[in-house]
Amino acid sequence: MIDALPATSYHDPDLFARETERVFRRAWWLVGIEAVLAEPGRYSACQLLRWPVVVVRDRGGELRAFYNICRHRAGPLVEPGDGRCRDFVCRYHAWRYALDGELLRTPGIDPGELGEFPDLGLVPLRVAAWNGLVFVCVDDSAPGLIEWLGDIVDIAARFDPVAAMQFDGEAQKDAAANWKTYADNSCEGYHVGMVHRALGSSLERETVRLETRERGNFVGFDVDYTGAGADTSRAGKGYWIYKYPGLLLHFADYAFNAESVIPLAPARLRLRRWFFSHPDKARAHGVDRATIQPNSEKVMDEDIGICEAVQRNLESGAYPGGRLSPRQEPGTVFFQRLVRADLGDALEAPAEDEQRG
Ligand code: FES
Ligand SMILES: [Fe+2]
Repeated sequence: MIDALPATSYHDPDLFARETERVFRRAWWLVGIEAVLAEPGRYSACQLLRWPVVVVRDRGGELRAFYNICRHRAGPLVEPGDGRCRDFVCRYHAWRYALDGELLRTPGIDPGELGEFPDLGLVPLRVAAWNGLVFVCVDDSAPGLIEWLGDIVDIAARFDPVAAMQFDGEAQKDAAANWKTYADNSCEGYHVGMVHRALGSSLERETVRLETRERGNFVGFDVDYTGAGADTSRAGKGYWIYKYPGLLLHFADYAFNAESVIPLAPARLRLRRWFFSHPDKARAHGVDRATIQPNSEKVMDEDIGICEAVQRNLESGAYPGGRLSPRQEPGTVFFQRLVRADLGDALEAPAEDEQRG
């Protein structure tokens, strides 16, 4: 018998604070793509948990990442989103920083009043790119990106690199759900027949083999779309990944997409998914590229809908926690084991609090 995580762990703010320290800080987060950050001055800014971050291609061609926070009085340097600039100019009092983070100018303030300029550069973050995707990590002592990805690097090598594909667009959606509600769902295919009826009907003629990997902490779905004649957006071989704690990757012979699952609050998520495809290979597989992103977004919307409904029920106080089937939900069992390994004692605390309250 396998108990699911306690319901309180899906909305408790104290637990969320601990998750931030024990889980999120040590992870790498997908915050942009190299295709958008191709030239010097191109940047992508976003809210990553409680941290506003910006990644930029500097004048020398290096990728850099900083907190999107001015050293003067914490003004924002750029608005969230993609853009291009020569330097960063703070939106509060116009302090100016070079793309490598160096403080250049403090309008109306004599630099002598402030101390040494070199000490007032933007605070850098670790940044690394892999397979066209740009990641940041806020913890200097966490493992490097490639070690964190583990066996994912080998699985990606079975497919075309993203650099060989064209970037088709980004979808961004918010969900009123805890990150674990969304991850529980991402780790199993048990819900597909009910929640994704269109996808489910074409999947009946496909084979899906689920595996869990310790090297990289991910759940993989090895998919064969052969015979999926009902759907013009999928064909050939595919591999889907849920990587702990907030990364989804979907490989196919002719396309790829990556989704960043960013917890913003205990019951608030931001989902960002970047789509890529290979026009010639898609044609060879009989795939209509124009249907890839809409079909994929439909599946995302269906997942968001069920996760938001589950989230409301988890917060109702009328459900203590459920049971998991190792046969139907081995990926979710694996995910929850990772959560327990990282949070252990902290997971049980909210339940006790609720009993007292
Ligand atoms: S806060 Fe940035 S210039 Fe004042
Ligand atoms: Fe789903």
